[in-house]
Amino acid sequence: MSFTLTDHLGPVDAGAALRADVRAGLTATPKTLPPTWFYDARGSELFDEITRLPEYYPTRAERAILVEHADEVAVLSGADTLVELGSGTSEKTQLLLESLTTAGTLRRFVPFDVDASVLRYAGQVIGERFPDLAVDAAVGDFTQHLGKLPREGTRLVAFLGSTIGNFEPAARASFLADVGAMLDPGDWFLLGTDLVKDTGRLVAAYDDAAGVTAAFNKNVLAVVDRELDADADLDAFEHVAVWDAEHSWIEMRLRSTRDQVVHVGALDLDVPFAAGEDLRTEVSTKFTVEGVAAELAAAGLRVAECWTDPDGDFALTLATPV
Ligand SMILES: C[S@@+](CC[C@H](N)C(=O)[O-])C[C@H]1O[C@@H](n2cnc3c(N)ncnc32)[C@H](O)[C@@H]1O
Repeated sequence: MSFTLTDHLGPVDAGAALRADVRAGLTATPKTLPPTWFYDARGSELFDEITRLPEYYPTRAERAILVEHADEVAVLSGADTLVELGSGTSEKTQLLLESLTTAGTLRRFVPFDVDASVLRYAGQVIGERFPDLAVDAAVGDFTQHLGKLPREGTRLVAFLGSTIGNFEPAARASFLADVGAMLDPGDWFLLGTDLVKDTGRLVAAYDDAAGVTAAFNKNVLAVVDRELDADADLDAFEHVAVWDAEHSWIEMRLRSTRDQVVHVGALDLDVPFAAGEDLRTEVSTKFTVEGVAAELAAAGLRVAECWTDPDGDFALTLATPV
């Protein structure tokens, strides 16, 4: 087994990016923080737990599509390199790895994530299961480091879990354009997107009865406390998930339970919160199949196949440069 891990982010850049995001987000009105900062080792563990919750249908739905169609993805793409953006544990991705191995084309897997600890974990699991595969993991930010990904070979770039939904529309268009520009003719993009559905099911998926999503949401404050010497009291915020029909997204927020001031030592910043004031920590956009195709087309990508699960909850779209 061969495993390498390259860090494109580094502690200095990661620290600078966190400081910039926290200063900008906590001095804005309304207050926001980007979801990227949920994912330290604890955040990745909590997200993994979320994927197994009864309310959280997206992972099961996407896995069901991969069970049915991973072989077609492998044959259509003929990829020798699988790159996965925001790869997390790469648990579902093993279905793709299996199909690409059976097809006989795969040589290299490049899981790419902002959290190094989850990449080490995934690298070990995948290395044991696919001993002949070169696993070249990369730590980085997919909004900044797409240019660092391997250029050679026939590449299949997977972006699963509907992580694309965490972008707001303009940032999403710009990200997809970057993906389109990075792909050569003969390369492929595999995109997982959660679809619009009954509001009750959507909200429950982000506000589970066991409180795991609440702990995940509050983890962003734990990261800011630890990394930026802040004193946010996690018990003084409550987890809120709301459906915004106008934007077609779920918003996760942290609501201040009282008037309070959070001091961020590393920024020498005092952040006042009124009782009931919300800090927005994530948007999770819900798509239509037609909307996804239109957004990919705008990024120079043509849809070759689009599959949904039997309940029509989730879509997996395979696209290639025009
Ligand atoms: C919603 S989870 C999805 C994980 C996995 N792909 C799945 O389908 O279950 C988002 C993943 O993207 C990673 N991530 C979030 N923001 C990122 C960024 N800006 N650059 C790279 N990875 C990021 C997180 O660490 C996490 O593993």
